[in-house]
Amino acid sequence: MAGMLATAAWHCFLAMGALHGYRVIASSIPAKPHIIAIIIDDWGWNNFSYHSRKNANRAEVKTPNLEKLANRGVVLDRHYVACICTPSRSAFQTGRTPLHVTVDNGDLAKYNPDDPISGFVGIPVPMTGIAEKLRTAGYRTHFAGKWHAGGSSRGQIPKARGYSRSLAYLASGNNQWTYADGQAMCSKGVSLIDLWEDDGPAVNYKPPKRCTSTTQNGCEYEDSLFEARVSQTIQFHDQDQPLFLVWATHAVHSPLAPVNDLMDEFSFITDNPNRQKYNAAVKDIDMRVGRLVQTLQDTGMWSNTLIVVVADNGGPTSRDGGASNYPLRGGKYGTLEGGIRGNAFVSGGFLPRAMRGKVLSGLVAIEDWYTTFCALAGVDPTDTKAASFGLPPVDGLDMWQYISGANDTSPRTEVVSGIQRNAGIAAPQVVIDQQGYKLMVGKVKSADWSEQIGPTATTPVTSKLSVLDCGSADMTYPYPNACLFNIFADPGERTNIAAQSPEIVARLALRLQALALTAFSPDRGRTPADKNTAPACINSRTNLAGYVGPFLA
Ligand SMILES: *[C@@H]1O[C@H](CO)[C@@H](O)[C@H](O)[C@H]1NC(C)=O
Ligand SMILES: *[C@@H]1O[C@H](CO)[C@@H](O)[C@H](O)[C@H]1NC(C)=O
Repeated sequence: MAGMLATAAWHCFLAMGALHGYRVIASSIPAKPHIIAIIIDDWGWNNFSYHSRKNANRAEVKTPNLEKLANRGVVLDRHYVACICTPSRSAFQTGRTPLHVTVDNGDLAKYNPDDPISGFVGIPVPMTGIAEKLRTAGYRTHFAGKWHAGGSSRGQIPKARGYSRSLAYLASGNNQWTYADGQAMCSKGVSLIDLWEDDGPAVNYKPPKRCTSTTQNGCEYEDSLFEARVSQTIQFHDQDQPLFLVWATHAVHSPLAPVNDLMDEFSFITDNPNRQKYNAAVKDIDMRVGRLVQTLQDTGMWSNTLIVVVADNGGPTSRDGGASNYPLRGGKYGTLEGGIRGNAFVSGGFLPRAMRGKVLSGLVAIEDWYTTFCALAGVDPTDTKAASFGLPPVDGLDMWQYISGANDTSPRTEVVSGIQRNAGIAAPQVVIDQQGYKLMVGKVKSADWSEQIGPTATTPVTSKLSVLDCGSADMTYPYPNACLFNIFADPGERTNIAAQSPEIVARLALRLQALALTAFSPDRGRTPADKNTAPACINSRTNLAGYVGPFLA
């Protein structure tokens, strides 16, 4: 009840402020909402029962809690992300489109000694993160889970980005049971643990030596560790302060090593073991999200909480990937819709009652959360610190009027997707306009359509997924042989209409050229020839007790 009143008062206050310029009386300002963002890794479009409930695979997709949360919330049907991890997460943290922060995943061991500002993978040091912004508005800021937005420099870890508490792995694909890294900093023969707490290695959580993906007894699945952290954060939160909590799950990223009991539940899947694991891992995270909602209700925080759930990129649809983005084309690693149109919804008691159960199909991009959260907190999203270093400004747009139903048009009129061209140069590969026209240039990876039930034993492995040829890999104007789709009329991208629509191609090609000039593409250095003798690996072994962590000041 209190939440409803607070919500109504907040809208009323906004309207009055806007119309009459009333001076604000402190006591009439309602509490700022608690904001919880859940970023689910590599989550396929068709691996969300909200999307697959009418499809052949529905028996395999067990996401009742996420579906219920979506049904009680607002589904964002055109939420655009990058096709890989670091660009999406960096966009979320900084409010820049990936083209203006980073378009590649990269290797934490590389760095450019001449550039201590941006000369490494991930977010440049002086960009102001969303948690820093929200902290200035009185938020308590917490991060749990996968970071993967830079970790070579001390200025890039979650704490330096404004999270007062954090438990995070800094790279990608560590082991769910040993937390051993996927060779982020050292190479073969040297295994590091990738788990960082606040400003040092998370030595308190070191798993016993006997723990492996198969010896699970008495060991802790990493998503369970993060769930415990999230749950404690909520239980011990002082409710007089607004909370900002980001929970970036390990699920459903490889290596998939789900809890044995859950694997058994999906033993009827016999044609692809990765799909079986993927299903078990999706169900696992769904149950954890269900418990989070329960904790919010038990603590009385639900009514004033806004929950945002997004996939960081589309599901990997190869035989080894285990996911499906049916009926969309493509998947992780590529900029067809299956790679960049991700599952997304907003829920929680702070959402105006009239909006619950709605689907919004206007364009939204992952960088928009930054500006939206700043608006909810009442802080200016402008990043003056980054500007003083000549770094690109914030691109995100405030979606709150749209999501809350105050305005039925999304302010976003364009979506841009960038990738890494040859020699590490960042370039836009895709531009989508307000009428749904999507121009694509260069070689587009992961161009297959997913099956309703798939992948199976005959689906190609990642390296064999097909490539859509939309012109030269150099991707330079005038982009001969560019592809054009209309994703509103043809969401599965089945018909390239470039030949019939030369004037649209020409207009969007000019736009792409203009965007190319804005690309942020610092020299981030090269991967050392021998990682094991390079500064990153040596630092981890000698100064960080064998943990992945920053090696630059
Ligand atoms: C993912 O989608 C594929 C294809 O629809 C399906 O076979 C698989 O079971 C799904 N897995 C989950 C967890 O939803
Ligand atoms: C609604 O949003 C659109 C898109 O941002 C904007 O052009 C329009 O002015 C807004 N309308 C009102 C009444 O604020």
